[in-house]
Amino acid sequence: MYRSLQRLIDRQSWLNTVADPLQKFLNSIFPQQVETGASQAIQNLLNGVWLGHPLHPMLTDVPVGAWTATLVLDSIAALSGSEHLEQAADLTLATGLAAALPAAVSGVTDWKDTYGETRTVGLLHGLTMAGSVLAYTAALAARRGGARSAGMLLSGVGYALMAGGAYLGGDEVFDLGYPVNQTAFHQGPGKYTKAMPLADLPENTLTKASAGGVSILLVKQGSAVYALDDTCVHAGCTLSDGRLDGHSVICPCHGSQFDLRDGTVLNGPATMPEPHYDVRIREDMIEVKRAAE
Ligand code: FES
Repeated sequence: MYRSLQRLIDRQSWLNTVADPLQKFLNSIFPQQVETGASQAIQNLLNGVWLGHPLHPMLTDVPVGAWTATLVLDSIAALSGSEHLEQAADLTLATGLAAALPAAVSGVTDWKDTYGETRTVGLLHGLTMAGSVLAYTAALAARRGGARSAGMLLSGVGYALMAGGAYLGGDEVFDLGYPVNQTAFHQGPGKYTKAMPLADLPENTLTKASAGGVSILLVKQGSAVYALDDTCVHAGCTLSDGRLDGHSVICPCHGSQFDLRDGTVLNGPATMPEPHYDVRIREDMIEVKRAAE
């Protein structure tokens, strides 16, 4: 089933026709690499920088749970004829609709920084979820207008669309790996390991090195040498190809900004800290070891 679905999605070239102008529009509202100002603060809030974890999956639990409750309450109300349960079902339906808005806004903010297959599957996920919201909105209107049976039918359509959208959302994360921590399996050296001669490290320059089988970003500023994993936690781009900004590095792909001293996320779309390394100099060699979290 999974492979058939992938093939079906691959054939939907119209998705890219929609995605191109939509991403362009979103990036005009939320430009990448702005680093300061209200736009960046809102992006950080919606991505989940403050949470240390993407915000979107947490927010989606509310409509999914509320609409599951609607389905259960509707079923029991239909069997028992209880008006109280009908009212409870309508209330959970409306709760799901109210919660769908922030979930959608956070999801769109994450989606604008996707590309390739993650962009296509992400768009399909969003469109399916939008269809679910429309069906539930129509269901609520029908219920309020006294057409309960039609309202229940429309809720069923909404639930089926939501389940399909949730499947695609799971595919985006568990199969395509967005926005999974791209350094999750980078252990790095557990004890001090040589990275490069100190004399070879230029001042204030993002420099790529390697230690213990992991690519490391090194930066020398005066007497201090900082070391981070060179793979961006957000989508795997190379931080040493990015830009140095004071005590921070800015990723070349989507502008995530990390503090060189401890890997803290200063700006998203990354939400998890970049792994950082303790540094010592022994016999003019830079040695690094993974810092305790
Ligand atoms: Fe997206 Fe680094 S890969 S910000």
